[in-house]
Amino acid sequence: MERDISARVAQLHTLLSDHAHRYYVLDQPSVSDAEYDILFRELQQIEEAHPEARTPDSPTQRVGAAPLQGFVQVEHAVPMLSLGNAFTREELVEFDRRVRERLERDVSDVQYVAEPKLDGLAISLRYENGIFVQGATRGDGRSGENVTANLRTIDMIPLRLRTDNPPAVLEARGEVYMSHASFNALNASMQVQGKPAFVNPRNAAAGSLRQLDSRKSAERKLSIYLYGLGELQGMDVPESQMQALEILGELGFPINSETAICSGIDACYDYYERLNRDRPQLAYDIDGVVFKVDALSEQRELGFVSRAPRWAIAQKFPAEEAITLLESVEFQVGRTGALTPVARLKPVFVGGVTVSNATLHNMDEIERKDIRSGDTVVVRRAGDVIPEVARVVLEERKNDPKKIELPKQCPVCDSAVVITEGEVKARCSGGLQCAAQQREAIKHFASRNAMHIDGLGDKLVEQLADEKLIANVADLYSLSMEQLLSLPRMGEKSAVKLINAINASRQTTLQRFIFGLGIRDVGENGSGLLASRFGTLDALMSADENALTNIDDIGPIVASSIQQFFANPHSRELIDSLLSQGVEFPENQVEQVEETLTGNIYVLTGTMSDMSRDQAKTQLQLRGAKVTGSVSKKTTAVFAGDDPGSKVTKAESLGVPVLDEAALLKLLEPNAL
Ligand code: IVH
Repeated sequence: MERDISARVAQLHTLLSDHAHRYYVLDQPSVSDAEYDILFRELQQIEEAHPEARTPDSPTQRVGAAPLQGFVQVEHAVPMLSLGNAFTREELVEFDRRVRERLERDVSDVQYVAEPKLDGLAISLRYENGIFVQGATRGDGRSGENVTANLRTIDMIPLRLRTDNPPAVLEARGEVYMSHASFNALNASMQVQGKPAFVNPRNAAAGSLRQLDSRKSAERKLSIYLYGLGELQGMDVPESQMQALEILGELGFPINSETAICSGIDACYDYYERLNRDRPQLAYDIDGVVFKVDALSEQRELGFVSRAPRWAIAQKFPAEEAITLLESVEFQVGRTGALTPVARLKPVFVGGVTVSNATLHNMDEIERKDIRSGDTVVVRRAGDVIPEVARVVLEERKNDPKKIELPKQCPVCDSAVVITEGEVKARCSGGLQCAAQQREAIKHFASRNAMHIDGLGDKLVEQLADEKLIANVADLYSLSMEQLLSLPRMGEKSAVKLINAINASRQTTLQRFIFGLGIRDVGENGSGLLASRFGTLDALMSADENALTNIDDIGPIVASSIQQFFANPHSRELIDSLLSQGVEFPENQVEQVEETLTGNIYVLTGTMSDMSRDQAKTQLQLRGAKVTGSVSKKTTAVFAGDDPGSKVTKAESLGVPVLDEAALLKLLEPNAL
C-alpha cells in the first residue's frame, strides 16, 4: 500500500473515531451527519480498493460480521464479581459500620463513590496495545461467552484506546444496556414485523447481545457504561475508584455522569434518595445504587467474602408501584388443586412491564387487605418477581362493593372445594379427575428438573390437552407424528424433535421420576432424599411412616402425602402405565454416602454455578447435615454463591464463617474432612 494512502487511512480513523467519541460518548457532536458520512464512505472506498488497509479497529468494522455457530467460552483473567445487596437504610448503615470496623476507623467518615446500578448485563472489554481484541459476558464470573463481534457494533465502545501510549493489556468492565428510546423503537419495529415485543429493556439488551448474527445485533442500539477495571499490564494501578473512572473516561469510554463522591454513609443515603426520585427522568433503567469504597488501598485491606467484595454494596430501590383498576377476581387451580385468587387488572405499566394479572396469594390475604372487585388498587412489581396487589386505595372505593368469596365448587371441574384445617389454601377435591390439575401435572412432569422433555412447554401442553390428545402424563408416550402435525403451527421439524425428546425422557433417574409424579409436598430436594434412601420405586411405595420420617427433613405431613399418593389406585395405574411404556431408571443409582456432616448446620444463599441450591441441600442432608433457611449463632457456615444477599451480612455480623461454592464442592467430595 502506498505511503500516502496508509497515511490517509490513519487520518480517517482518527477523524472518524474523534467524531464518534464526541457524538456517542460526550454527547457533543462536532460535525453534521452528512460530513461524517462523507468521511466514512471515503474510508470504505479505500478499504475496498486496498483490502489490506482494513484493520479490526477500523470504524467501518462496526456493522457486524458473518453469523457464528455458537459462542465460545472465555476465561476471565480477573474474576468478575457480584455484589451484596442492601434494601433498607439500616442495612446500608450496617455495611458502613463493618467497613469502618475493618479499617479501624472509629469516627472518621469513609469516602465512597456512588454509581447508578444499571439494569443490563455485565461485560468485560479487553484491549491489547490499545486495540479492542475481545469482549465477553460475565457468565458465572470465572468464564463467560465471547461476544466480541456483537460488542464491536456498539458505537460507544472505542475500537482503539484514545491514547498514544497504550498499556499492554487493559480490561474495562461495565454494563451493556438499552435506553428507553432504543427499546421503544425496537418494539415498534417488532410490532410492524408481527413479532413478539420484548418485555423490558434488560431482556431486549440480553437478547441483542446474544445474537449469533452480529448484523442483527448492530440493528439494535445498545449502550454501555464502564465502571471498573480488570486485568492491567504496563500501566500503574490507579489509587482510587474515582481515578479509575477518570482514566477510563480519558481513554474514550463512557462513564455515567451521575457518578458522585459521598463522604460518609449519610451522604450516601441522600444520594440514593435523590436518584430514586430522579429515576423516572433517566433515559435508562436502574435498579439501585452501587456504593464503593473509593481508596483502592482500603479496598485491598477489606478484601472479599465469597465472590463479593467487602468494599462495595448495591442498595436496591424498592419495588415499583402503580395504580390501576381491579376488574375482577378469578380462581386458578394449581397442580395440587390449590386455588389461587388472581386479580384481573386494567393493564398498567409497572417495573418495566405491562401488568394485567396479579396474584392475590390466598383468601387470608384478600381478607387482610380488604380487596374487592372494582377497587382501585396499588400494584407492585420488583425485578423478575410476580406482580402483586399491595393495597386498596380506599378513598377511591365506590358504593360498597361485595366481598370476594371463595367458590364452593372448582371453577374448572365443579368438584367440591375444601379447606383442610391448618392450611391457608383452599383446594379442589377433584384430584386428577380435574382437567386443570391434570394439565398442571403434565407441565410439571415435563419440566426441566423433572423428566426434562425439551420443547414441551406449558403452551404446548395446553394445546395438546385442548385437542384431547393427552389426558395424563402416560399419554405423552403414545403421541404420534400425525397427531402432533395436526396441531396448528406445528412443523415437521419441531414434531420430530418433540417425539425424540419424549423418547429420550424414557431413560431417567429415580429422583426425576419421583419428582415428576408431583406428589404433594415432595419437591426436588425431597425426591432426591427419597431416591437415595430407598433406592427403588418398589421400596418407596411400600415404605411405612416410620421409614419415611426417619429421613431428616421428612416430617409426618410429607410422609402422609407420600403414603396417600401411593395408596391411590389412580396413581398406581399411572405408574404402571408409564413403566409399561418403557420409562425406566437405574436402581440405587445414588451412591450411599457416609454421614460425615452430622451435627453441622448450614445455610445456602445466592446462585451456585455447578449445582442448584436444592441439589446442594440434598447432598448436604445426605451426609447428615441440617440445612436451614436463616442464619443464627448455631449456623456452622454459610455457603454463598452469586448475588448472595443479606444472609452473608447477617453471618458476618454474627461471626459465622462464609464460604464459597468451591469450599462446598470440596466438602461434598468423597472422603472429605
Ligand atoms: S461493580 C466488584 N458497578 O451489578 C463489583 N456493578 O450485582 C462488581 N452493575 O454483575 C460490580 N451497575 O452487572 C458494579 N456501577 C456498577 C454497576 C454494577 C450495574 C451490575 C453488574 C454486576 C451486578 C452485581
